[in-house]
Formats: sequence, structure tokens, C-alpha cells
Amino acid sequence: MASPIEEIKKRIDIVDLLGSYLRLSKAGVNYKAVCPFHNEKTPSFYISPAREIWHCFGCNAGGDIFRFVSMIEGIEFPEALELLAQRAGVILKREDPRLSNERKRLLNLMQDAALYYEEQLHVNNPVKKYLKERGLKDESIKSFKLGFAPDGWENLVSFLAKKGYKMEEAEKAGLVIKSTNPEKRNKYYDRFRSRIIFPVSDPSGRIVGFSGRIFNKETNEGKYINSPQTILYDKSKILYLWDRAKNSVRKENSCILVEGQMDAIMSHQAGVTNVVATSGTALGVGHLALIKRLATGLLLAFDADVAGETAHKRAHDLSIDAGFNVNIVEVPSGKDPAETIRADATLWLEAVKNAKPIVAFFLEGLKKKFPDDIHKLRREAQVTVLPYIARLGDEIEKAHWIQETSKILEIKEEPLWAELKKAISKNRSGGIQEKGSIEARVVRPRRGLLEERIMGILSLNDEKLSPDFKEIQDLFSDQNLPFLNAIISGGKPSKEVETKIGKLILEAELLYGDKKNLNEEFQNLLSELEREALKSKLELISNNIRKIELSGEKSKLGEYVSQFQEVSKKLNSLWQDPKQKK
Ligand code: UTP
Ligand code: MN
Repeated sequence: MASPIEEIKKRIDIVDLLGSYLRLSKAGVNYKAVCPFHNEKTPSFYISPAREIWHCFGCNAGGDIFRFVSMIEGIEFPEALELLAQRAGVILKREDPRLSNERKRLLNLMQDAALYYEEQLHVNNPVKKYLKERGLKDESIKSFKLGFAPDGWENLVSFLAKKGYKMEEAEKAGLVIKSTNPEKRNKYYDRFRSRIIFPVSDPSGRIVGFSGRIFNKETNEGKYINSPQTILYDKSKILYLWDRAKNSVRKENSCILVEGQMDAIMSHQAGVTNVVATSGTALGVGHLALIKRLATGLLLAFDADVAGETAHKRAHDLSIDAGFNVNIVEVPSGKDPAETIRADATLWLEAVKNAKPIVAFFLEGLKKKFPDDIHKLRREAQVTVLPYIARLGDEIEKAHWIQETSKILEIKEEPLWAELKKAISKNRSGGIQEKGSIEARVVRPRRGLLEERIMGILSLNDEKLSPDFKEIQDLFSDQNLPFLNAIISGGKPSKEVETKIGKLILEAELLYGDKKNLNEEFQNLLSELEREALKSKLELISNNIRKIELSGEKSKLGEYVSQFQEVSKKLNSLWQDPKQKK
């Protein structure tokens, strides 16, 4: 009988799965994408559907679907196994004992708490009435799992206690707070009280936090309060409704960013589903990196108030720096998307359709602001528009917007270019210098690389080759010899060997898949390896010679010197005619 792992692999298509995280394009029989695990512009991340593996030639990460999910979700193997089992509809008979870990228990706790809040909303008519007045349909309330935290200090506390959870756990999940009152030591109270609850999920839809909007209560806490950062809830990487938006984000190749939970839900309800909200956290590079895997277009639909101006400006800069094609959705004045949609959903659809490239948006805004003062218009544009153009990574884009600006300001392009240069150098010295991920390039020494390529070609089992295995074995380094032998013997390899070979084949397919003269390629690699092997040998001998010279024990010197001469002669002859065999 197939193991659960094999069964899951059989049911989940690696291209579907990775395609739900990354924007894929076809590369022959394989697929490629910009690697999510290191910083790069051109794709070096490949998926082989035939071998059910993926590999990045830039950072050398690679493996199967389980490895991918655990890397991208930042979880351990057992949890990745469970996640994919769920997706595949495979029931894991015996729970992996490693699974009863903290994360798992906290996820269950969050799930139970969410159900509790939902139930409370269900029995609370004024809250339901309020939500409906705000334009939410019953289906939406249900589908987005909205809830209500009743007023009082210990509602959730006693619910969770009854369910058998420890208060320490509930505190770790961010749901209850330990009292600081010395008389109430070891007492805990509910974080969310008299609040409408919006569950916040991770990319695979598991609830990791909550956001609560005040309802019918005087308080000096904020209108919204949010779960704190916990081991489940990494605020730098979670976007509200990302789990539900990501498919259409990929389809549309664009993502709309709004400020509030209500904005996001209302938009989904209106059928615009590539929408997410930052949900009480400042937009950061982590959020943008998540979106960037699936889309190149970003539409910002922030509230039209001035309160958030600095935050908006920062969001603009970060988005342009992340390489997005940034557009601004103009929300009718004084309103936010939620209110706009409640008034008339078509207004929202129109606003999205009419989104303008960020530079055009600000240029046109200024033109409306200073219709008859060209001087002021120019000065303002220099301060507020040029910095955006300066951030654009693409020279053609820059040229385009300088041209547009020149038309609107009724001024030649040259002075604008001069000012732009100044703005660019200012960005460089004082700009926001955050990088999404660490540049991780693994340099393989030449010899190892050659050996890997040779093993890859051998694994292709092409009949045009008639390799002399003995000769190849002699050339190989100890490090790679076991892998080579596994390929030659063709038996059932160990897990480690199988993974390594899978990766080598994928590489060979990409490099040599369409080569007609595979044999020539192969012979070239072999002779280069021979040179490298001789060079290593030479290095070894000269090291020995040096050692002997230092120790003064010279009896063996003669032998090494003649070895040295022999090897270098061989090496020289190979240099003169690389094709010549021994
Ligand atoms: P808004 O004040 O625009 O909230 O803040 P809203 O969504 O329009 O609120 P409603 O419509 O009255 O319910 C936008 C977002 O900023 C976060 C919330 O995520 C909110 O949705 N926020 C706001 C907080 O985290 N804390 C606050 O005190 C206020
Ligand atoms: Mn708002």
C-alpha cells in the first residue's frame, strides 16, 4: 500500500500547488518562476512536473512539495505533511507525535475561539443588524467567519478553560491578558471585549489572529484592536484575506490594497476579489514580497483622508522600490472603499477600472490644484512627483514619465532630467534601504560542478552515450563518488541520493534537453574534469613538497618531484589538445 506521502504526492499536482504561491511560466516541459527564497529578477527557480521536484539554480534550494511548503510557510515537515494531507484529502492515520507541538495546539485554540465568537454573533441581534446596515450580506458574515466578543472580562477565558486549554496557551495565542494587579495574580482576562471580530488567516486559511472593532461601548482603547505578534501571527507577512485573494491576484496579475477589513470584505462581496488589507499594521516589504510572487501590478486604494499621508507616502515608495507597477485607485472624496461600495458597488468597479499609474495620478492632481499657476505647479511637481519617477527601476518608464511631466509642466525635458538625477542620488543616500530577502548565492567549486553535470547527463540514460564508467570513477572526487556509483548501479537509491539525483537530472534536462550532440557535450565535460582532477592532484603534491621542505626530512622529496613533473606534463598535453585522450 502506498505511504501517505506517496499518496499525497500522487493527488497533488506540483505545478498547481507551487502555482498557488508563485507566478509560473513555461520552460519546455518544465516551469520556471522568480525564486521566492532569494532576491532575483530573472527566474532561476524551476519545477519539473515529470519528476515532481523543484530546484533553484540561484540559491540551490530544492526538493519536493513538502519541502516547498515547509520553506515557504516557515513550518516544520510534520506540519507541512498535515497541511498537504488536508489539501489532498488524505487522512493521516496516526498523528505524528511531533505534531502535538505548540503551534498545532495554538492553531486549534484559535479555531475554537473563532467558533465561539461566531456563535456569540449568531445570538446577538443588534450586532447582526449593525453589520447588515453597513452593507454586509448574511452569506458574507458567515463566509468571512465574522464574530462577536461579548462585553465582560472572562467570557473567552471561561470558554477556553472549559475546553481544556491552559491560560498560558491562550496568552501565547494573544487572546487573553495576564492581570498585573497584585491581588489578581495568575488571573487572566479577555483581550477582546464588546468587539466585532474579524478572524485573520495565514496564506493557507488557518486562523492566526483577530482584529476587533468596538461595538456600542465607551472605551479609551482604539476603534480597532488587533492580536499581538505571536508564534502563529507574523505581522510582517500576513495580509488580511490573502488566503482568499491569492488566486485572483494571480489571474489578474494585480493586487488591490485597501486599508480596512471592512473595505476588503465589501470589495470581495462586490465581486472584486483580488483585494487584501494590511489590517492594523504598516505595510512592509514582507507583505509586498508575498504579493510580488503572484503579480506585477499593485493598486493602492487608501482612504481619501489626509490623516494617513506619511504612511501613504511610505507605502508608495516601498511599492515602487519592490518593482511593482503601482497604480492609485481614487476613492470618492471623504469615503473609503467600504462606504463607497455600500452606496453603490458600481462606483467601486469604476474606480478600480480607472486606476491611474502613480505618476500620472499625482501629476493630474497637481494640475487640478493649480489650474492657472504654472509656476507653482512646476515647483510642486518637482517636490512631489519627481521623487516617484526617480524611484522607478526601469529606464524606459523613467523616460516616459519625464516626457509626460514635461508636457504638463510646459517645460523642456532637459531641466527635468537634471533635477531627476539629483533626486536619484538623494534616494540613494537617504532612501528606504530594506531588502526583502538575503542574497544567497552558492558558489560551487568548478570540479564539483563538472561532476554534477556529468552525473546529470548519465542519469538521462541517453543511448547516444557509451560512457566508460571505470574511467569516470577514477576522475571523481570522494565526495561525489557514492552518488556516481548509485547512478551506475541503477538500484533503488536512498532518500538523500534520490533527491540529489532528481535535482541533477532537472539541471541536465534544462541544460542539455534539446542538444543534439549530447555526446560531444559529455566528452567536453569529461576532459575538463580530467584537467580539474589533475590540477587537484598537482596541488596535493606541491603541498606535500612544501611540507617536506619545511620539515627538513628530504629523503622522499625526489619521489614527489618526479610525480609533480609527470602530472604537469600530462596536464600540459591536455591543454594543448583538450580532445586528446590519455
Ligand atoms: P479606519 O479608521 O479607516 O477604519 O482604519 P474603517 O475600516 O474605516 O473602520 P469602520 O469602517 O468604521 O469599521 C482603517 C484600518 O486601520 C486599522 C484597522 O485595520 C482598520 O480597518 N485600525 C484603525 C486599527 O488597527 N486601529 C484603530 O484604532 C483604527
Ligand atoms: Mn476606513
